[in-house]
Amino acid sequence: MKNRLVVGNWKMNGSLELINTMLPEMTSQRAQCTAAVCVPSVYLARAAQVLADSELLVGAQDVSLAQRGAYTGEVSASMLSELDCRFAIVGHSERRTRHGETDEVIAEKALRCLEAGIRPIICVGESQQQRDIGRTAQVIGQQLDIVLDRLAAEAAISLERIVVAYEPVWAIGNGRAASVEQAQDAHAYLRQRLGAKAASLRDSVPILYGGSVTKANAADLFAAPDIDGGLVGGASLSVSEFLAILHAA
Ligand code: PGA
Repeated sequence: MKNRLVVGNWKMNGSLELINTMLPEMTSQRAQCTAAVCVPSVYLARAAQVLADSELLVGAQDVSLAQRGAYTGEVSASMLSELDCRFAIVGHSERRTRHGETDEVIAEKALRCLEAGIRPIICVGESQQQRDIGRTAQVIGQQLDIVLDRLAAEAAISLERIVVAYEPVWAIGNGRAASVEQAQDAHAYLRQRLGAKAASLRDSVPILYGGSVTKANAADLFAAPDIDGGLVGGASLSVSEFLAILHAA
């Protein structure tokens, strides 16, 4: 059986109140898969405290591409690791489009994570327009390759610790998830692309699906051979929904 990974992405939602009440509830049932929640960075310290004795891990939604210094407002990977952060999302489409993050910036952020012992969740995904003109494979392949090539240039870095998330931009936050077939096709392609770099990557890197995952579609998606889990936005803000998704995994 695959060791599945499900990661919640709260985005800029929630409150201290929700951290204090919801996270303990989320640990009320033992998850059979690896599970994490990526909360807003100001809540990371509190979330880590609340979850200290549980199996639910804590992750960040972004990280600075710099190691330290004059970067007002930024949070470094080493700061995140001090707070027991195990994962950090890099290259989410909301950061690519709204904050102008390029593949090169995302590659640098992934590198900072690995240097600090944090597993980067590297998001790739095509827009509706790119899908319509048949460029899905080309777009997600290139997004992945730029990051992999940058990381592979660092001898001290173990690439096996990365996580890849396929997040079609057209499926995020609107209730219109990719079909199992669409997701499986993209995942199989990403797996093949990982394998082209190294067989160990093909076998060890989890590929998560993200984009309107709910308790209604999770089990079908997770049953596809190349889908190793999910990156869950909206549905991770409800205890019952998130627990049902963990159960499906
Ligand atoms: P969604 O978000 O589950 O609300 O579609 C997923 C994501 O953006 O990571």
